[in-house]
Amino acid sequence: LASDDRELSGSGLNPFDGFDASFVVPPEHRPSRHLATGSSESFARDIPVIDLASLGYERKSIVQQVGRACEEWGFFQVVNHGVPQTIVQGLKDEAKKFFDSPRGMKLQVKRTADNPLGFNDGELTKNVRDWKEVYDMAPGGFFELPADFEADDTGSVIHRNQWPSFLPSLRACEDYMEAAEKLAFTLLELMVESMGLPPCRTHKHFESSRTSLFRMNHYPVCPAPELALGVSRHKDTVALTILLQGDVEGLEVKCQDGEWITVKPNPEAFVINVGDVMQVYSNDKYQSIEHRVVVNKNVERYSFPYFFSPGHWVDLGPIPELTSDQCLPKYKSFNWGKYLKRRFDSNYKDLGVPNLQI
Ligand code: SIN
Ligand code: FE2
Repeated sequence: LASDDRELSGSGLNPFDGFDASFVVPPEHRPSRHLATGSSESFARDIPVIDLASLGYERKSIVQQVGRACEEWGFFQVVNHGVPQTIVQGLKDEAKKFFDSPRGMKLQVKRTADNPLGFNDGELTKNVRDWKEVYDMAPGGFFELPADFEADDTGSVIHRNQWPSFLPSLRACEDYMEAAEKLAFTLLELMVESMGLPPCRTHKHFESSRTSLFRMNHYPVCPAPELALGVSRHKDTVALTILLQGDVEGLEVKCQDGEWITVKPNPEAFVINVGDVMQVYSNDKYQSIEHRVVVNKNVERYSFPYFFSPGHWVDLGPIPELTSDQCLPKYKSFNWGKYLKRRFDSNYKDLGVPNLQI
């Protein structure tokens, strides 16, 4: 859920059968190191890996590791996360079947102006076309936004998942989404606790949330990986993202010194990152970090982000206990649902974090 994704309307042709100017990234933002094979041996630096196996009896140490990783990196990986391998494999198998299907069939579940859930192969990030196709779904079956971002109370609109009739087994994704949501609550608690707050401090914001989103990404092999990106640089708008990446590298994170580093693929791990919502809650203690996706000539890549977000009714701002006369709030309170609705209505224009900076 990049801050400024936008859609192109679909034509009859598979956009990845050829390469054209719409995919070309401006020179200053092109990948510095494009991949020949889809995997490389050297990783000079890597984001922290946190083992959740001992969560039951060494919680304090894990909370500290999470806090340090959020402050220093905004990104970390978790292993022994409790999501069963069979569920992960089921998801990967079904995603491959779906994306391997002819484009005409995939368009059966196309995302539209009326429904943000479904298939799309025309996304733009920073006004450049992404070398990827996506399928968005709502965990729990539906996505709920206010009907209007300007009026006070106009009720809400519910968008439902689309399922392709040619691949009923794709509903295996539902098992994955359920498991990912459970992990998302665990990670939210760890992050909140690492700021010195009771772990459940923000729970009610997420309990009836219907703005979380699950995305399947497919990055086809690319004839010109030095010119294009799977996703251009962006930050995630949400509270936190749980990313499953397979064994093909591609994700790059921007470090504090400006260097882009590759997140080494570990099929057993999830990559976790702080999103804009967590940055606001924490009053900038934890930052939402820029990242992007590099593509390659020889191997296709899949990735599966789960974007964990508060309910549409939530008014967001720095958590009051984290601010004081010495540490003034850096953001004004804003309504999360109206912010998302405004983004959808403006066709995902780059709105930034909304009217927040005081
Ligand atoms: C994203 O950040 O949008 C996708 C991440 C990935 O594919 O690794
Ligand atoms: Fe992202």
